Amino acid sequence: EQAPVIAVDGPGGAGKGTITQLLARRLGWHLLDSGALYRLTALAAMKQAVDFDDETLLAGVAAALDVRFEPSPGDEPARVFLDGEDVTGAIRTEECGDRASRVAAIPSVREALLQRQRDFCQPPGLVADGRDMGTVVFPDASHKIFLTASAEERARRRHEQLLAQGENVRLPDLVKEIQARDERDMNRSTAPLKPAHDAQVVETTGLSIDEVLDQVLAVTGRT
Ligand code: C5P
Repeated sequence: EQAPVIAVDGPGGAGKGTITQLLARRLGWHLLDSGALYRLTALAAMKQAVDFDDETLLAGVAAALDVRFEPSPGDEPARVFLDGEDVTGAIRTEECGDRASRVAAIPSVREALLQRQRDFCQPPGLVADGRDMGTVVFPDASHKIFLTASAEERARRRHEQLLAQGENVRLPDLVKEIQARDERDMNRSTAPLKPAHDAQVVETTGLSIDEVLDQVLAVTGRT
């Protein structure tokens, strides 16, 4: 990988999506939303009615994914296409997120998505959003950031997002789901969620988006 990489890892709801998008735009760099690849694998498997206990089939689905990311104008998130169909909203549901964290625990699925993720590293640079960007996918990243926030704060943020997209989920249920997903992401044997030894931890509880972006820019020396 010739181009510089800023790896941004952390649990779901820590604000990685928002921050990495702003950062990539600010720097004029490419953006990798690695979580979208796991969500797309889950969605494709659901569409193909693949048995979620069949790891070989799931790895095949991951390897064969036909995906396209299309940047949107303004502050809109990139649009995501699976087999040419716009699935930008479909991959953001709670069900898809939950299934994604299950397929993400399968080593052969992670392996199948590895090179695809590394291919995003193109000049002038890449901002990579995920769980294992600094530990596994881009261990030589120029900068590694681990964004966190309390489970309650992450559930509140996620709740607002879901309401905005018309999904009505109870906040206490979300707190429980987030804790269950954290547990699964941190305790799996392959690429568990944890800060790289050389990552800078940024605690975002109570901070505004601008405040977090300032801290992240400071870490990358690009204020
Ligand atoms: O970040 P996002 O919520 O879109 O990710 C969905 C799921 O994909 C996560 O819960 C996690 O289990 C998995 N994931 C992962 N490694 C990544 C990105 C996401 O295991 N690099």
